[in-house]
Amino acid sequence: MKKFQSDYLIIGSGLAGLFSAYHASQYGTVALITKHDLKTSSSFWAQGGIAAAIDKTDSTQNHVEDTLEAGRNLCDKKAVEILVNEGITRIEELIKSGMKFDLLNGEIALGLEGGHSRRRVLHAGGTSTGEKIVNFVLSMIKGNKNVTVFENTLIHDLICEDQVCAGARGFKWDEKEDYLFGSKNIFLASGGASGIYFRTTNPHSSTGDGVSLAYNAGAEIRNMEFIQFHPTAFYSKSGETFLISEAARGDGAYLVNHKDERFMIGKHELAELAPRDVVSKAIFSEMLRSNLDCVYLKLDHIDGDYIKSRFPNIFNEALKHDLDIRKDKIPISPAAHYMVGGIKTDLNARTNVKNLYAFGEVASSGVHGANRLASNSLLECLVFGYRAVQESINEGNKIEIGVKEEGSYSVNQLVESNYLRSKNIISRIMNRNVGIVRNEELLKEALLKLSEIETSWNFEEYEYYSDRLSSLLVTSKMIINGALTRKESRGGHIREDYNGTDKQPYNLVQKKNREIQTEVIN
Ligand code: SIN
Repeated sequence: MKKFQSDYLIIGSGLAGLFSAYHASQYGTVALITKHDLKTSSSFWAQGGIAAAIDKTDSTQNHVEDTLEAGRNLCDKKAVEILVNEGITRIEELIKSGMKFDLLNGEIALGLEGGHSRRRVLHAGGTSTGEKIVNFVLSMIKGNKNVTVFENTLIHDLICEDQVCAGARGFKWDEKEDYLFGSKNIFLASGGASGIYFRTTNPHSSTGDGVSLAYNAGAEIRNMEFIQFHPTAFYSKSGETFLISEAARGDGAYLVNHKDERFMIGKHELAELAPRDVVSKAIFSEMLRSNLDCVYLKLDHIDGDYIKSRFPNIFNEALKHDLDIRKDKIPISPAAHYMVGGIKTDLNARTNVKNLYAFGEVASSGVHGANRLASNSLLECLVFGYRAVQESINEGNKIEIGVKEEGSYSVNQLVESNYLRSKNIISRIMNRNVGIVRNEELLKEALLKLSEIETSWNFEEYEYYSDRLSSLLVTSKMIINGALTRKESRGGHIREDYNGTDKQPYNLVQKKNREIQTEVIN
C-alpha cells in the first residue's frame, strides 16, 4: 500500500479538475487523479463551446434569463447569476493566459445554440472547443512541481467518518498498486453518468462514479432524474455514434423526417433551436410516429466550405461513415448527454460532508435546474472550480481524522467478461426504460431488472470489476428512484403518465439511508 499526502486531492481530470488543480497548486500540493488518462473526459469531447455574454449587444441579464428559462423553474437564481457574471472573469483570465478562441473579423466569433436568445458561444478549432481548452489548461499546469498526476487510478472509497472526509482509497490498475490518499481538501470533479446509457455522446468512462462515491460517503444527491438527451447524435444501425453539435443548427441546419418535412416548425417559436428538452421530445415523437429509429439533420443549403472549416471534426467523422455532410442528410437520434443533477453543493461547491467539495458535471450546484442550457457546463467547471479553491483557503483550519488501511484491492480477470456483459445489459435497460419519455411501469421494470442483475452477481470484496458494477448499480438506481418519485414532467424528465408540471417546483434529495426528501423551492 502506497501513501500519498497532499493539500488537495482532486478526483477527475476534465476541465473542472484541471482548472481547479491549476488554482489549488498556488496554495499547496495537489494529487490529481484520473481513472484513465488526461485526455479521456467529456470536457475533452465538448464541441459547441463555452457560453458568455461578452458581445456588446448582449448582457449578463439576458444570459441569466435564458438559463432560467431552460431550467424550467428549478434553477437557483443566485447560482445562475454567479455562473454568468464570474464566468466572464474566468474566460478573460484564460484569454489573458493565452487561450485562443476562434475569431471572426478580428473579434471573438460567437456561435448560437439551442435556448440562447442570441449568439453567445465562444468556440475554438471550430467544434473542437473541449480539446483546445483542456490542452490549454494542461499546458498551464505542465511542469508544475506542486501537481502530481495519477493516471489509470480508480478511487473506490472516500475515507469519511462522522460526515468528515480525510482522503480516499485508490487502486492504480496498470501497476496493480493500492494507494491511500490523505488530504484536507477533497475535490470531486469526476464528471457525469450518461455513459451508463447505451446511446450516449459521452466517453465510456462517464459512469457516475463520483456520485456513488459521495452517496456511499453520506453526501446528499439531488435531482438525478434529470438526464439531458442531446437531440442530434449520429445514428447508425451498428450503434456507433458521435455528437453533431447544436452549433450546426445555430448556423442554419434543420431537422427533417423521412418525408423531408421540417417537423420542428410550429412546435416552438425557436424551431430547431428550442431548448434541448423540447427538441429531443419532438424527435422522439417523430420517430414513434414514423416507426423509424432516426430522423435527419440537413446542412446542404449551407455553404460547403464554411461547413468544412466550422465543423471539421463532424465532417471527418461523417466521412468515415461515407457521408458528405455538405450534401448528404445525416441520420440522427437523441442520446444521453449530460447529468443535470448530482451531488448537492452550496454556492462554494461544498457538500454536506466536511472537507468534501464537488463541482462540474458531478455536482448539482443549482445552475441547471431541470434542463441545462447549452454550453453552460464548461463555464460551470471554471466558475465553481475556482470558487472551491477560494473556499478551501477561507475555511482555514480543517478537522482531521485518521486514515486507516484496509484490505488490498485486486483485479480478477475472470470477472471481467461478466462485468462487461452486465454493463451492456444495464445500458440497454437505461435506454429503453429510463429514456426520454418515462412511465411508472417502465421505471419499476427497470428497478426489478437491476435487482435481478445484483442478486445474480457474486460480488468480491476489494475487487475491481465487482466495485465497478456496484457503482453502476448505485448510480442507475438513483436515476430511476428519482424518476419514479418525481410525478410530473419538467425539463429533461418527461413522464407520459404525469404530463403536467407541478405549480410548486421542488428538488428531490437522495440520502444514504435511502430516504428521498422533497425540498420545496420558494
Ligand atoms: C453541442 O455542441 O451541441 C454540445 C454543447 C453542450 O452540450 O453544451
